[in-house]
Amino acid sequence: MKAWINGQLVADPGAPAVLVSDHGFTVGDGVFEAMKVVDGLPFALTRHLERLARSAKGLGLSAPDDSEVRRGVAAVLEGQELPLGRIRITYTAGPAPMGSGRGDAPPTLVVVADAMNAWPTTTRAATVPWPRNERGALAGLKTTSYAENVVALAAAKERGASEAIFANLAGHLCEGTGTNVFYVVDGELRTPTLASGCLAGVTRALLLEWYGGTEVDEPIETVDAASEVFLVSTTRDVQGVSHWDDRELPAPGPITREAREMWRKRESELLGL
Ligand SMILES: Cc1ncc(COP(=O)(O)O)c(C=O)c1O
Repeated sequence: MKAWINGQLVADPGAPAVLVSDHGFTVGDGVFEAMKVVDGLPFALTRHLERLARSAKGLGLSAPDDSEVRRGVAAVLEGQELPLGRIRITYTAGPAPMGSGRGDAPPTLVVVADAMNAWPTTTRAATVPWPRNERGALAGLKTTSYAENVVALAAAKERGASEAIFANLAGHLCEGTGTNVFYVVDGELRTPTLASGCLAGVTRALLLEWYGGTEVDEPIETVDAASEVFLVSTTRDVQGVSHWDDRELPAPGPITREAREMWRKRESELLGL
């Protein structure tokens, strides 16, 4: 693992480095990105940096310095053997008083790169009872306030699933803790719209562009009638769902296989610094 903080590579990435008063640490006042690394190169770096800027704006943080973030990404990749890895960029409000109010200190920017294991081709997904709030202040932002995801994922794991799936306040399918959801009904590939409150996933957008699909918001129960379901994210790519709660599904189904194949063919187009 290599880590870079506020312009400097960290000698020991396991040593403490962020201030105890950092608002990202104390109240989750920060945003982040996670992206895949293939053969030492980040995937879709520009798209991830654009989303980082959007999330920061949504939280009312100053815009991250694009060239500084890119310098951090290059620094943590340099000299590391990473056939498959992940980069995490975290950008917080920086040191602040110990309440919800922000301080005047500059933001904290952390970039970390580490190796990653590939996900299996298929997995189980479990729906959880807690709704995503599509009308909340943080809807659609990739913030470090992810504790709801932590609780949901733990509940899904207790049921043998690797992903927890949320409906939103309207009862419509929304997303997973770290994935967007695609499903096939009547032969049509569908995924929730961004108005559902889901994150504007980079993988979701590319899949819609490269393979197609219909964006629609409908009750989460619709997925009970799906002929196939798959999850997408920067680390999972296109992953078939073999069980949606207790219901077994063909996985990877024919459309999932086609989408995976298309992904494999086109992924290299977006690898690079
Ligand atoms: C809540 C949430 N939804 C969806 C995704 C998938 O987004 P991407 O394809 O950009 O990885 C993520 C990514 O981690 C996420 O955190």
